[in-house]
Amino acid sequence: MDREKYQKMMRGAGQLDYEIYLNTEALLACQKKPEDLCNPDELQFMIVHQIEELWMKLMATTLLDIDDEMKARNSFKVLTLFRRVHICQEMMTSQLALLETMSPKDYQQIRILLGNGSGQESPGFRVLLKMPEDLWATYDAVYLSGDSRTLEQIYDTEYNHDDAYMVAEALAEFDEQFQKFRNAHMQLIYRSIGVAANSLKGRPVEILNAGLRQKFFPDLWSVRAEMTDRWGGTYGKTRDKLESKPDA
Ligand code: HEM
Repeated sequence: MDREKYQKMMRGAGQLDYEIYLNTEALLACQKKPEDLCNPDELQFMIVHQIEELWMKLMATTLLDIDDEMKARNSFKVLTLFRRVHICQEMMTSQLALLETMSPKDYQQIRILLGNGSGQESPGFRVLLKMPEDLWATYDAVYLSGDSRTLEQIYDTEYNHDDAYMVAEALAEFDEQFQKFRNAHMQLIYRSIGVAANSLKGRPVEILNAGLRQKFFPDLWSVRAEMTDRWGGTYGKTRDKLESKPDA
């Protein structure tokens, strides 16, 4: 195939309404030119990171809207917007798999070009780490203290699958999806640079393990554990064996 001809076509002329509205000229110039790539996998490496940055921008913007909607207790709208965030999170995790098609050697060639760069410098990731604290404050102000209710009532003694429960579960889903991303990312690191490697900041990648245990909304996890303790009166004790029914 005529590589140059097709590469020119990929850039487009930037003149059509679609191209103008989406600013495709600038968008498609965000990656290195083909002749500047250290190897063919570098294009994929850049694109996956850039796309994930865009998903995080969309998620963070949506979380701002969710906060406003929670304050107005528009719970149906909150749930719809959370669905959008959760889908972005699922895509962020599944898209990491693309990078597993890159060989460890191809990645070493790319890695040399990354300086001391680290995903911890990602603007999208940094803002997403900050926002849950404010989201929880709003949830508390509207659905908990603002409504004179506790999570124990919402999840157990007064459980009726109401909006306070649904929004809490949407927050828990955000927490869980965040962990799924971090776990998949850790596997990607093992696959690319090995288990005992150092990051470009010279730190062992195992420092990411602390993040794997982070919970944004610890109360939403402890409410379940407390229920398990309460409901399981025989918790920790061996219960009687279930009796099998005699044959009819
Ligand atoms: C071959 C692919 C990848 C490798 C080998 C890799 C490797 C690493 C390493 C070694 C760290 C720790 C850095 C430090 O010590 O500061 C890190 C952190 C991070 N990386 Fe990646 N990464 C890859 C792909 C990605 C992609 C596609 C994203 C997309 C957003 C990403 C996002 C992040 C984030 C957000 C952190 C910080 C995580 C946290 O603090 O829990 N990485 N990565």
